[in-house]
Amino acid sequence: MSKVVITGGAGFIGSHIAEEVAKEYEVVIIDNLDDYYSPDLKRRNLEILLANPNVRFVEGDITDTDLLRRVIDSDVEFVYHEAAQAGVRISVENPFKPNNVNVLGTLNVLKASLDAGVKRVINASSSSVYGKVKYLPFDEAHPTMPVSPYGVSKLAAEHYCRVFYEVYGLPTVSLRYFTVYGPRMRPDLAISIFARKMLANEPITVYGDGEQTRDFTYIDDIVRVNRGLLETNAADGHVMNVGGGHRITVNDLIAHLREITGSASEVVYSDKQKGDAEHTLADIGLAEGLVEYRPATAIADGLKKFVEWYTAHSR
Ligand SMILES: NC(=O)c1ccc[n+]([C@@H]2O[C@H](COP(=O)([O-])OP(=O)(O)OC[C@H]3O[C@@H](n4cnc5c(N)ncnc54)[C@H](O)[C@@H]3O)[C@@H](O)[C@H]2O)c1
Repeated sequence: MSKVVITGGAGFIGSHIAEEVAKEYEVVIIDNLDDYYSPDLKRRNLEILLANPNVRFVEGDITDTDLLRRVIDSDVEFVYHEAAQAGVRISVENPFKPNNVNVLGTLNVLKASLDAGVKRVINASSSSVYGKVKYLPFDEAHPTMPVSPYGVSKLAAEHYCRVFYEVYGLPTVSLRYFTVYGPRMRPDLAISIFARKMLANEPITVYGDGEQTRDFTYIDDIVRVNRGLLETNAADGHVMNVGGGHRITVNDLIAHLREITGSASEVVYSDKQKGDAEHTLADIGLAEGLVEYRPATAIADGLKKFVEWYTAHSR
């Protein structure tokens, strides 16, 4: 059975990819169970994953080069690189940690993968690399002018992936995710915070006037495009947007959640936060052309599935 390594596989997106890929591959997860949010949530994800005998977990840090060399050995065919210090706001408070994990960590993953003869590294990038909006939707040729240290670190990681492809011949693909949501999502993300507070009828805080827009992508669409990349080299060397292809305002997002939850939560508007993007919207034409990426989950349906999952798992 072919072997796939998933860095950050105990987290939100990595655990979903692991669950899907482990149906056909041997999967090794590397994750340091970082406490940016509760490690208990990550342990719960691992409990689900480790029920499949194809999955093995190695607790460790991607900044540890010796560990990476041991885990990414010559039997490994593919690497999904999902481990990161995520979160825009925390990167504004402490820019060193995202740089260390997201830039140095990525470089370590690439070098270990190159040395092991890995067939493809699939790198989780972010719409945060765009930053300042020149036009919408963002296509991949849109200027990259990040507005947070997190965005800078993800952009540097992307460039390392491209250079490892062009200079060293290691096949890499970077996927620019646009605000991913769904079951097991990070508790620090807006949809998660809003749903939690709305179900408790507590006030929710919106930073800015709520007219900022976001392109939200349901986790199943992200898993599908990642899984497909094990079967094709069509995207090697590329950076591709994988968004939902639509955007909604934060106010509309709240309206959807209010309809689903029946909440009476008050909305409190507060100052805009440093580092937050004003608008995001993906042009997904490149991913559609290269790997037939077509997001299939409408926001109203995805939010409903998320709230159902949250209600069942929040006790
Ligand atoms: N969720 C989104 O909306 C979104 C959007 C754009 C990009 N991304 C990117 O997708 C990837 C996955 O994001 P997520 O939302 O699942 O986040 P997450 O925090 O749930 O998952 C990241 C995982 O990486 C692990 N990790 C952190 N530092 C590590 C280290 N030094 N060594 C080993 N493991 C480490 C964490 O413990 C965590 O389990 C990240 O690269 C993130 O930057 C996510």
